[in-house]
Amino acid sequence: MTFQLAPSILSADFAHLARDIAAAEAAGADLIHVDVMDGHFVPNITIGPPVVKALKRVATRPLDVHLMVQHPDAYLKAFAEAGADMLSVHIEVLPHLHRTLEAIRALGIKAGVVLNPSTPVSALEEVASELDYVLLMSVNPGFGGQKFIPSTLDKIRRTRALLDRAGSHAPIEVDGGVDASNIRAIVEAGAGMVVAGQAVFGGGHPADAIAALRAAAQ
Ligand code: DX5
Ligand code: ZN
Repeated sequence: MTFQLAPSILSADFAHLARDIAAAEAAGADLIHVDVMDGHFVPNITIGPPVVKALKRVATRPLDVHLMVQHPDAYLKAFAEAGADMLSVHIEVLPHLHRTLEAIRALGIKAGVVLNPSTPVSALEEVASELDYVLLMSVNPGFGGQKFIPSTLDKIRRTRALLDRAGSHAPIEVDGGVDASNIRAIVEAGAGMVVAGQAVFGGGHPADAIAALRAAAQ
């Protein structure tokens, strides 16, 4: 089964991001997942547009930017101009999600909708045709290295069914707690993009880790 692997640089060495991204890309990373946290929507603070702009200078793969922020509308343009190729926003903070998705697409980049573990799949019903991908959180957002929530597997299947019913071919991305023990089940359930932070960068050997994830998914 084919899927895109998106190493999350949250678990990379922040003093050597260029080195770690190059290693992940050389080992076959398809996307570079960038976790933006504002200390409000999630209890952690990470990186902003200036860092994305710097990453854009060194990354050869698309930058998959995941906005875990309370007010994403205020920052869409800044992240697009910094070099984000994909921008995903949390449905939990967006009363006018339809407008936000239009705004992201108007910036010429892909628009993704993120669902927290407690957010029902049905929340996607009215925007299924307006999005380019769905990101399902398989941990509660805020930190790397958390444990995968097993009920996500059924949620992936139910999300695929909803998208299919709406005539959408948008892929599903899964984020949080992915490792060699669960990646195969995640892909079989219908994930087309898989994020992995600790599983790629946690052991200090991203190339070996990516090879192990690919092998486990077969
Ligand atoms: C969590 C982030 C994830 C995180 C995944 O809030 O959205 O992208 O970096 O890390 P792992 O794979 O370590 O759970
Ligand atoms: Zn993420």
